[in-house]
Parts: sequence; C-alpha cells; structure tokens
Amino acid sequence: MPSHILKENSSDSARLWWREAAIYQVYPRSFQDSNGDGEGDLLGVISKLDYIKSLGVDAIWLSPFYTSPNKDGGYDVSNPRDVDRRFGSISDAEALIESAHKYGLRIIVDIVPNHFSTEHVWFQEALKSPPGSTARARFHFYDGRGVNGDIPPNNWCSIFGGSAWTRIKEIDGKPGQWYLHLFDSSQADLNWENNEVKRDFEKTLRFWLDKGVDGFRIDVAHGLVKDKILQDHRDPEGLTRALRLDVSDMPRDERESLLSDVPFFDREGVHEIYRNWRRIFDSYSGQRMSVAEAWVHPSSRATRYVREDELHQIFNFDFLIAEWDASFLKSAIDRTLHEVSAVGAPATWVLCNHDSPRLVTRLGGGELGSKKARAMALLTHALPGGIYIFQGEELGLEDGSIPDHRRQDPVYFRTHGADKGRDGARVPIPWSAGLPHYGFTSGDPWLPMPDGWDALAVNSQNSAESYLELYKKSLAMRRELFTLNGSEGKTDQRLQKISWIDSPHGVLAFRRGEHFILYSNTTGQHLDLTLEESANDFTIALSSSPGARADGGLLHLPDHTTVWLAGPR
Ligand code: GLC
Repeated sequence: MPSHILKENSSDSARLWWREAAIYQVYPRSFQDSNGDGEGDLLGVISKLDYIKSLGVDAIWLSPFYTSPNKDGGYDVSNPRDVDRRFGSISDAEALIESAHKYGLRIIVDIVPNHFSTEHVWFQEALKSPPGSTARARFHFYDGRGVNGDIPPNNWCSIFGGSAWTRIKEIDGKPGQWYLHLFDSSQADLNWENNEVKRDFEKTLRFWLDKGVDGFRIDVAHGLVKDKILQDHRDPEGLTRALRLDVSDMPRDERESLLSDVPFFDREGVHEIYRNWRRIFDSYSGQRMSVAEAWVHPSSRATRYVREDELHQIFNFDFLIAEWDASFLKSAIDRTLHEVSAVGAPATWVLCNHDSPRLVTRLGGGELGSKKARAMALLTHALPGGIYIFQGEELGLEDGSIPDHRRQDPVYFRTHGADKGRDGARVPIPWSAGLPHYGFTSGDPWLPMPDGWDALAVNSQNSAESYLELYKKSLAMRRELFTLNGSEGKTDQRLQKISWIDSPHGVLAFRRGEHFILYSNTTGQHLDLTLEESANDFTIALSSSPGARADGGLLHLPDHTTVWLAGPR
C-alpha cells in the first residue's frame, strides 16, 4: 500500500468522513490546462490543489481521465487502468493522489461499469470473433429479426436518442449481429452475467484502491443488469422521454407507469454486484467509500443501494430539478431525510453536475438567477448529509452559450440537434480576469469561453460579498457547526435531524440542533418575521444577500434570501 494513504485521524474514525463531507467535482478536461493543448489535464488539477483546499471541501471527485476516444466526455472508457494521453500519464495520476493527500484532500474516481468504449480491446476482439464466441459473450450481441436480420433484436431506444442497437459487419464484410448500447453507439453495454466482466471490474477497483484512491463514483450504477432483452417494450420512445429529468409534456400517470418497470434499470441483480464490491472496499483500510449515480423510481428504491452491506451513498438528484420554491424544497428535504434514515445512510445533496444546466442558469440566469442560486446553496449547505459541488458552481457560473458547430456532446448529434446537450455546463473555469481564456489555457479552449466572465473569474472574487466567499464561509461554518462537536470530533446525533419551524407561505425555516436556525425566503417580497422566543438572542451568522437583520426577535429577510442564525453557546 502506498505510504501516502490518508491516515484516519481520531475525528475521522469517530465520524466516518464521507457522511457529512463536502465533495468537489472536478471535470478534468475543463479545469486547468497545463500544456497549452486547450484541454485540462491532471497536472493542471495538481496546480490548483491549493485553490480546492481553500474552498474548505473534504474530497475531490474526478470525472473520468482514463484512456478513451472521448466520444462521451471520457465516459466511453477504452482502458480503465490507464490515463488518457490528453490528461497525462499514470504517474501524473499517482502524483495527483499523493499531492491531494498531502493537502488533506481525499480522491474519489469515477468507475464506468455499464459499458466500454467500442475501442476497448474486448470489443475489438468481439468484432473479429464469430457469433456465439466468448469474446462476444462479454457484451450483448444478438442476431437481428426479420428475414435478413436487419431489424434490431428489440425496440429499445438509446437514452441519448435513436436506437439502442447498432449492427456490425462480420469478418466477411456482411451485415451481422447487433450490439446493445443504452447510450452512444461508441459505448457498448457489458454483459454482467459474464464472470470475466465481473472479475475485470474487481481488478480495476483494486488497481485504483492500491494507488490510494479513497472511493468511487459509480456511473449508471442502476443499469448494469438487463431483463427481457429479447422483448419489445410497449412504448420505447415514451420510456426514453419519461427517463428525462425535465420531462414536462407527459401525463403523470403515464410517466409513473412507464418508470415503474424499466427492463434495463434498477433490476434486482445489481445489488449482488455491489455487495461484492463492498467486501472489496472494506478489505482496505482508510474508510474507502462509494457513491452511486442511480436514477430509480420511485425514489424510495434508492435506499436499496445504500443498505448496510452495499454502497455508502447515492446521489439525491431532487435538487437538480428543484425550483426555488419553499413547498417543493420542503417536501424534497422531508422525503429524502425520511428515506435515508430508514437504512441509516446519510443524505446527499447535489445542485448541479456535468450532466445538467448550471444552477444559476436553471434558476433563470442573470442577477436574479444568481441571487436565488446563492440562497439555494446556503439552504443546501445547512442540511444534514453530504454535499457535492460541481467545479465553477462556487463561482456562480452560468452555462456558456455554445455555437452549434462547436458542440461536442453525443446527445446533440443523436437527437439531430433537438436536444442541445450538456456542453453549456462544461465550459472551462475562468481563473484570471484579463488573461487570454481567463488563464485556463495558453491554447484554444476545447469549448469557447464566453466574453464578460472577468467578474466571475476566481481572482476577481475576493470581496466578502462575492459568490466564492459565500461558499468558502458556508463550507467552513458548516464544518464548525454541524460536523464536529467541539474538539472530540464526535458527531452529535441531534445535529443529524432538522425540525421545521412554522412559517408563512413561501418561507422555509428549520432548526438544526440547539444553536442553529435557517430561514429561506423564496418569495420576491422583503418579509418581516417574528422569531420564536427562544431565538431572540440569535444573530445572523451568514446571509446569501445583503440587507438581512435580526434584532429584538424580529427578522428582516430580503427577497430570495437564506440566512443562517446562530445562538449563543
Ligand atoms: C452518466 C454520466 C454521463 C454519461 C453517461 C453515460 O450519466 O454522468 O456524463 O454520459 O453516464 O456514461
């Protein structure tokens, strides 16, 4: 085991670091370029560790940097145990893990078990092997239907648009079998009934665990096992639409009914895989953890992935689509806390990631969008559980507008432009106002960076009122108020719960422990509220926008604002 494995310190072992962690998602391609090729890389990440540390987060989750033709932002892996040249080398990855640990930052890496790139040696071998061969058995290869076999084995649609099947040419050059791909045709789904597949992923887990990573983010964790693979679905296009987060044009009953039985998601068999993986994680020292990306329906089924002998966390994506609306937020919070408490797992909170619009954009953009986003972040940072922060979220970035000819996301191409895809959220980070490409690269950035981001650049956000400072303050205060109880480092169970305070329409207020109260005003009106008597001597510790005041039991709360009130200790 490398000597730099993060040692558990006394407070860690008492509290299991990941339960309340703030984890910062780095999308390496867009973080910092060190060699002028226009794409971020691992040395770039190393050069910014001091910045990440200054945010006050506990860990970094790195999106894929493995060998990949990069047809889907690296989620099309052709060698999961090597680093793509565009990102550097294996020794850069080792240096990153070691340097991060020196900063006291843990490293979580992505693992992508649902599919391999069609450039993976296994797929290339399958292409050269006959139907029925062991090389084909690692994927889902089937003959087509119809006289000439030119109708796909079933009618499933790809999540990215179009059919979920692509037909190959056999070695003799004739049209041959079809392979399944739930995503892009460059991402062939693996057959998880196959023991070689299972063993290969265990090898990959150990490869990175041996290198000292602290955990894994499991991509499409709910998708590995497929049922009824040779049956048509009653409404494959409807199902693809129903699976979209932002679907609004489908009657609720229909959506519920489609999502209640998805033949390729959330099948019982996935849990056995994670029980095996958990045994591997637990065989290593240092509290290695895992977090599942699993879109399941109803959301209560998500807790099945975080049972005691399975994974540690599952992303809760409720806030990815949440409006800035008190009643929606309150019921999402209640439901999440209730569900996870049943299995003893911590909640997680996610405001944006590399697959979704940036929060400020989603909340309408501009000054008002930014004001609401700050308020929403402050609300999120006060909730029990772990939080995930997507690079640039702490700067209040909006989606970049990308001309169509510069788009890269396969979603855009597979939907023939009907869905613009996810590139907007993946625009590189503006580090320095005034420098070409804001100091991200000395070359041409792989996605265009907007004009007018000077004020959002990291080096411009020094004032106490900046977006970045709000994140730094709330992350530091969150740790002080909720994670550690004094010097003993023990988690106070009372801090794991919140209790709602009756409040007017559009306002959300809760207590967490004896010394903390939060108020969020989701309305466009300034409000004067009366605090509970026991909170008369509470003062404002943090506010998402200026103008909030608490005096003599009265709280003056500006529109679209969250405040943290702290009581005397
Ligand atoms: C996950 C990733 C996404 C990728 C997809 C297919 O949802 O977050 O970026 O496109 O899996 O691997």
